[in-house]
Amino acid sequence: MLILGIETSCDETGVALYDSAAGLLAHALFSQTAMHADYGGVVPELASRDHVRKLLPLCDQVLDTAGRQRSDIDGIAYTAGPGLIGALMVGGAVAHAVGFALGVPVLGVHHMEGHLLAPMLESSPPAFPFVALLVSGGHTQLVLVKGIGEYQMLGESVDDAAGEAFDKTAKMLGLDYPGGPRVAALAEKGREGVYRFPRPMTDRPGLDFSFSGLKTFTLNTVRDAKDAGQWDDQVRSDIALAFEAAVVDTLTIKCRRALQQTGCRRLVIAGGVSANKRLRASLEAMTGKLGAGVFYARPEFCTDNGAMIAYAGCQRMQAGQRDGERIVAVPRWPMNTLPPVGEMRLEGLVELP
Ligand code: KG4
Ligand code: ZN
Repeated sequence: MLILGIETSCDETGVALYDSAAGLLAHALFSQTAMHADYGGVVPELASRDHVRKLLPLCDQVLDTAGRQRSDIDGIAYTAGPGLIGALMVGGAVAHAVGFALGVPVLGVHHMEGHLLAPMLESSPPAFPFVALLVSGGHTQLVLVKGIGEYQMLGESVDDAAGEAFDKTAKMLGLDYPGGPRVAALAEKGREGVYRFPRPMTDRPGLDFSFSGLKTFTLNTVRDAKDAGQWDDQVRSDIALAFEAAVVDTLTIKCRRALQQTGCRRLVIAGGVSANKRLRASLEAMTGKLGAGVFYARPEFCTDNGAMIAYAGCQRMQAGQRDGERIVAVPRWPMNTLPPVGEMRLEGLVELP
């Protein structure tokens, strides 16, 4: 089954072709970040208009790369939410129009389920069940995953998402949007132990997160440094490192708790922040001590992309799921309301010893 996947939930136009037998055939991405950088964040109307411009050319591009024809496509998966309503509508409208023209089924996919399943595109994918840490610009969640669509929410952020905290910290440090990778790069020049930032909500039981206090702490530290006349590149790097270390430690403590609480031996990390090297290293060390394993996607499939939507859509369409005639666009959409895919078998899964 050859599925065309379309991702347009925010500021990245992502398209991919996934074949249920041969795997990922091609993927292409156009990032709008340069366009939004002037505004310090995503401007929804500009995002929608740019998706209109880029989506169909990218669809032709992946077909060319894969050496396939439009008539080879068996189904179309698109991101139906959560995300920006205008941006989602572009992907949904194009998917339904192309599906109608080609006479193939169409399915709206949950963006976070796409992130969650992205590590399945790698050569050693995790087997079920696993604990997933979803860390993106809009979400920070710990989920017990028993199968596709079998999601038990273990904990989530009560305020800012981890990626959002990275983006806001970047602004305070004078860095451009999107901030996560830039804060991480600046932190590499930081000195250990110059600042110590709090590890929010780690001193009490539970698996919820809160990052807004950390944001305020960072803001106060920046102000104090400026007031003291100490605002230079070294201090900015030291603050970036202290912030990153606090987020990474907090996420690591909660992931360890979630593994211990559930008895799971596999941890999956997904979403933009899962590209963070310090986070990966910290979770490798923690799971190593527990005799568990950590799984993640290659960096380009941690942030938004079409491949994860093509993959998730393919699994659900193989199980017979498809849209009716209406375009589905759901800006806010809890992932644990998704239906399970049932007894369907996934390809390429290897059970760990
Ligand atoms: O998953 P994603 O591409 O989009 C959403 O679904 O939100 O995640 C984007 C978020 C942004 O907040 C970005 O700053 C953050 O992921 N991010 C990172 C890194 N790469 C992206 N945060 C920390 N370190 C990184 N290397
Ligand atoms: Zn995303």
